[in-house]
Amino acid sequence: MALHSINELQKHFENALGLVEFSDRPTELYDPVDYILKLKGKRARPVCTLASCEMFGGNYKAAINQAIAVEIFHNFTLVHDDIMDQAPLRRGKETVHKKWDTNTGILSGDAMMILAYQYLQKASNDKIQSLLSSFNRTAIKVCEGQQWDMNFETSTNVSMDDYLSMIKQKTAVLLGEALRLGAIMANADEESQHLIYDFGKDFGIAFQIQDDILDLYGDPEKFGKSPGGDILAGKKSYLYVKAMERAPKMLKEELNQTYYSADLKAPQKIEKVKSIFDELDIKSRAKAEMNRYYLSAGIALNTIEIPENQKLVLKEFAEGLMVREI
Ligand code: IPE
Ligand code: IPE
Ligand code: MG
Ligand code: MG
Ligand code: MG
Repeated sequence: MALHSINELQKHFENALGLVEFSDRPTELYDPVDYILKLKGKRARPVCTLASCEMFGGNYKAAINQAIAVEIFHNFTLVHDDIMDQAPLRRGKETVHKKWDTNTGILSGDAMMILAYQYLQKASNDKIQSLLSSFNRTAIKVCEGQQWDMNFETSTNVSMDDYLSMIKQKTAVLLGEALRLGAIMANADEESQHLIYDFGKDFGIAFQIQDDILDLYGDPEKFGKSPGGDILAGKKSYLYVKAMERAPKMLKEELNQTYYSADLKAPQKIEKVKSIFDELDIKSRAKAEMNRYYLSAGIALNTIEIPENQKLVLKEFAEGLMVREI
């Protein structure tokens, strides 16, 4: 059986998500759900779920509800993340809490998490237990990662290991999970479920390092988030942590004074930090690190014992995401 192409999977997913109907009242609860889901994201996670299902011999339709679950869950984390990060823009549009208010974002986000679980468990009885226990393990890690990310804003000694462990939790495990759900729905054996999750984890680390790069160096029109947001929030991004590793003492002090200055206006602060990062050649180092994780993800994929041609769709998708601008 020929596997569906990435384009086809994307289209099928978009159609399926478009058909999802939530209650419409109270509108204050559901309008933001509709709003965020209709702002077209890349759909990276749900397409991973579908591609993984097909890679392991299932038809994408078998995993469509789990793909919807993963995307709704991801969007829930974005709504809450934007509150926590005080972000004004998401996918080129106002964030939910800016368009409505914080309370609306909190409750609509909560509702989305529950809606996600409703889709997750649309499966035959023999799979529900495995889907739930797998997903729960991941979902709690995402919360842990988010808390580390917040703690690090005010922490002065965040090492590269701390950073990597934080992004593994806040971002990478959900990509791994998206793939594992596809494998579960395709009846893949446990070893394969494990390996595809590992692929997703390494890929997810690369994906978050890239997000950190784009936050500062991306084209804001395309990336759709407010540029330099990580600097303004005092985030321990890859760029910052690497710069602190590399900078001589004086420059370290200068970086910190700038990064945490309450007086500097946003554009000046961003420009100054960027010039220090550039002096230390941080962007190309970040890209190299991203590529290392991407390669290591590829090795995990290679160890999965299925015919190579069944891996091509997922490989192509991952490759495309590594050169993304959005
Ligand atoms: C943004 O995720 C949050 C991160 C974990 C980096 P995406 O970059 O997948 O965002 P959308 O869904 O495509 O908008
Ligand atoms: C996102 O990290 C992690 C989660 C949403 C769980 P970021 O805070 O870097 O994501 P963006 O850049 O706002 O999309
Ligand atoms: Mg954020
Ligand atoms: Mg965040
Ligand atoms: Mg980010």
